[in-house]
Amino acid sequence: MSEIRESVHGQWSSRWAFVLAATGSAVGLGNIWKFPYITGENGGGAFVLVYLVCIAIIGIPIMMAEIMLGRRGRQSPMNTMRTLALEAGSTPHWAWLGWMGVLAGFLILSYYSVIAGWALAYVFRTGIGTFDGQTADGVAHIFQSFLADPEGLLFWHTLFMVMTMLVVARGVSGGLEKAVKFLMPGLFVILLILLGYALSTDGFGEGVTFLFKPDFDALLFKVGEDGVKIWNPGPVLTALGHAFFTLSLGMGAIMIYGSYLPSNASIARTTFIIAGADTAVALLAGMVIFPIVFANGLEPSAGPGLLFQSLPLAFGHMPWGAFFGTLFFILLVFAAWSSSISLIEPAVTWLVENHGMDRLKASVVMGIACWAFGLLTVFSFNVWSDVRLLPMFETFADKSIFDLLDYLTANIMLPLGGLLIAIFAGWVMRTEATRDELDMGEGLAYRLWLALVRFVTPVAVIVVFLHAIEIINVG
Ligand code: TRP
Repeated sequence: MSEIRESVHGQWSSRWAFVLAATGSAVGLGNIWKFPYITGENGGGAFVLVYLVCIAIIGIPIMMAEIMLGRRGRQSPMNTMRTLALEAGSTPHWAWLGWMGVLAGFLILSYYSVIAGWALAYVFRTGIGTFDGQTADGVAHIFQSFLADPEGLLFWHTLFMVMTMLVVARGVSGGLEKAVKFLMPGLFVILLILLGYALSTDGFGEGVTFLFKPDFDALLFKVGEDGVKIWNPGPVLTALGHAFFTLSLGMGAIMIYGSYLPSNASIARTTFIIAGADTAVALLAGMVIFPIVFANGLEPSAGPGLLFQSLPLAFGHMPWGAFFGTLFFILLVFAAWSSSISLIEPAVTWLVENHGMDRLKASVVMGIACWAFGLLTVFSFNVWSDVRLLPMFETFADKSIFDLLDYLTANIMLPLGGLLIAIFAGWVMRTEATRDELDMGEGLAYRLWLALVRFVTPVAVIVVFLHAIEIINVG
């Protein structure tokens, strides 16, 4: 029955087109901007190790499940979930999973676009030589005054949102599919060049040690006021959440991309390629950024500005720095661009399917709404930097609007979505259906996958959640 279902939104031209698009979705700001800064905030090596374990035992099986659901349902996540649930004799309420995903994608894009706007702005700054010969203080100062100017941030956020909607309106299997083919390898090459520079700094050893030498004390405990160590499960949840974020999982993006996948492509092999490329880019970014951080006496825990306060130092001092810097930020913008379209694609397909809108109108409607919501993030870096939306919760009391949005989406909504996807694929769908769709035979590989989605993912997500929620005390 699944063979005859076709997506009304089209199909990828080949398995490779899907791999490219899904890699384009996975590799983005999450790898180059977010991974280094949360690693720096959470003490380095042990955090990286937990993140890698989460990718291997949770991210990969969930990605396979999500692609599988998408390809079997071939509709927007809500309609796919409803169809497949009815097919399995379960309740149509599973469509709510699709709704939560649409909301998560919307919220993420609202701040993702603002940060991508920073990258856009830095294309020009690097290009005109703003960072030539700058000191660490100078670079930090430039970044701070950039953040302090809401109109500037608004301009770049607007530009990026318009770029995103232009592609979404034309359909994702159009031009971007081709662009990703050149841009991803380009990004990889420029990171290798920067790695060469990082090797030449005297911070390389320290940077790599920070990134790969696990210190579980730094991960699991924080030091309280009187010097006593307090158990702190937050960073483990952040690592888990980031595994979902970086692979674009838990909200239907990969599901909707899977719905355009030809029926004969191997889901497992495809998943390994995407997850491998994504992890490689993140680790490479860390190996470039931390040596520069240590060589210049910067703080690894500088937060969201880490990338923008460290790399410009390299561009200001290396040969051809302005050239490589401009190229780097251009590629970063493209990586963000190919990610952002997947954040809004589920919402747009739903407007097309259920409200009879054409793609252009649906894109404009969603784009404007998301842009407006993004103003919260724009202002959270300047005029509203002291605003706290949920001061009554300990976990949220010190979080700006941007930090709160990031926490709610990456640490709560995506793992929750992933948990439900695992339960659906492992327990609700009949094993004949999943075995048929994954097409891995009945051997060890299939049984391993089934055990991971049935037991490992649900238990891991629930345990980490329960621990983290313990610290969400009303107080
Ligand atoms: N994975 C992207 C990144 O690392 C961001 C992203 C795109 C995403 N689509 C998503 C995150 C869907 C969560 C869900 O930059």
